[in-house]
Amino acid sequence: MIRNYIAIGCLYLVVLGSCKPGQKETESTQQSDVMSTPSTKPFGATTDGQAVTEYTLTNKNGISMSVINYGGIITKLTAPDRNGKLEDIVLGYDSLAGYIKETPYFGAIVGRYGNRIANGKFTLDGQIYSLAQNNNGQSLHGGVKGFDKVFWNIEKAADNKLRLTYLSKDLEEGYPGNLNVEVTYELTDDNELKIAYTATTDKKTVVNITQHSYFNLTGNVKRDILDHEVTLYADQFIPVNNVLIPTGQIKDVTGTPFDFRKPTAIGLRTNDKDQQLEFGRGYDHCWVLSSKDSVKHAASVYEPSSGRTLDVYTTEPGIQFYAGNFLDGSLTGKQGVVYKHRFGLCLETEHFPDSPNQKNFPSTELKPGEVYKTYTTYKFGVR
Ligand code: BGC
Repeated sequence: MIRNYIAIGCLYLVVLGSCKPGQKETESTQQSDVMSTPSTKPFGATTDGQAVTEYTLTNKNGISMSVINYGGIITKLTAPDRNGKLEDIVLGYDSLAGYIKETPYFGAIVGRYGNRIANGKFTLDGQIYSLAQNNNGQSLHGGVKGFDKVFWNIEKAADNKLRLTYLSKDLEEGYPGNLNVEVTYELTDDNELKIAYTATTDKKTVVNITQHSYFNLTGNVKRDILDHEVTLYADQFIPVNNVLIPTGQIKDVTGTPFDFRKPTAIGLRTNDKDQQLEFGRGYDHCWVLSSKDSVKHAASVYEPSSGRTLDVYTTEPGIQFYAGNFLDGSLTGKQGVVYKHRFGLCLETEHFPDSPNQKNFPSTELKPGEVYKTYTTYKFGVR
């Protein structure tokens, strides 16, 4: 099935007011003037001596976002509370060593395939492809060395906009085709992080790229996320088995703890007796977005003590809402904060998990000549 990403993408840009046909975006790479945006600073080096750089974008309201060329990781993102106080709202580490030692994908670009592929196997045109089984016998987030652990080339695309590119070679982590990937991160003066994902291939493959930031809107991570009130604009979700692979069903949320159509505190039902919650140890599921529009309002989050809000818009059909159930206090993050159970939440816009093996899910196949193009916006506000 051919996915018409380009048309959807352009429509999206028109909706958000920034589609300028023919606009040439390439400018310089590194900035020497620290006052220009992005500013850059060294962020350590990998054990084999590859230097990592941190790029920081700052908008006119003082919101700033930092990104490194390792994993395309968003290391820091500040947003004002209702009194205007800017604090960091994403989990992560102060230095590269943390990200290299152990990270549950804090802030990273996830690919080629966000979420799980059953038994790390799928078939395309009669050919079986085997991927790393890095999660209970399943393949998770692109394998052992996914897009979260590779070096991205970063250049300035425009003021407050970074372009990250990466060539994923044929059979990297078992996936067919040389895949040219481009991700742009833009921080707008309307307090939005706009992300565009583009990919092309020279052999038929599967693609499902997403962003894995863990948000905690209390600011500088003061406590768990159980008081965050979440709305998911979805009438259905995707039930999973005990290793978090979709059963193939698509289930109505009515009358279940998965009904987030009205703002609901995460903690209200996350410990309910429910087999799906037991499998996920809480919320770790993909919701099917109800809107038929190309750009869908996917989720809203409100944190009562700070007043911070987060709204997510996307061209993708689904959103994985993961409430940090696997955080267990064993990781110490920025400013020495211990990341305990449910200290962060992820809102990963995507196609559905295990789509390559699920014939009734929208296709994630990409053929030579097609362009994979998806858009997601995270908008920060207060109430
Ligand atoms: C998945 C979780 C997984 C986490 C990794 C999420 O996207 O849905 O099951 O544990 O990523 O940190």
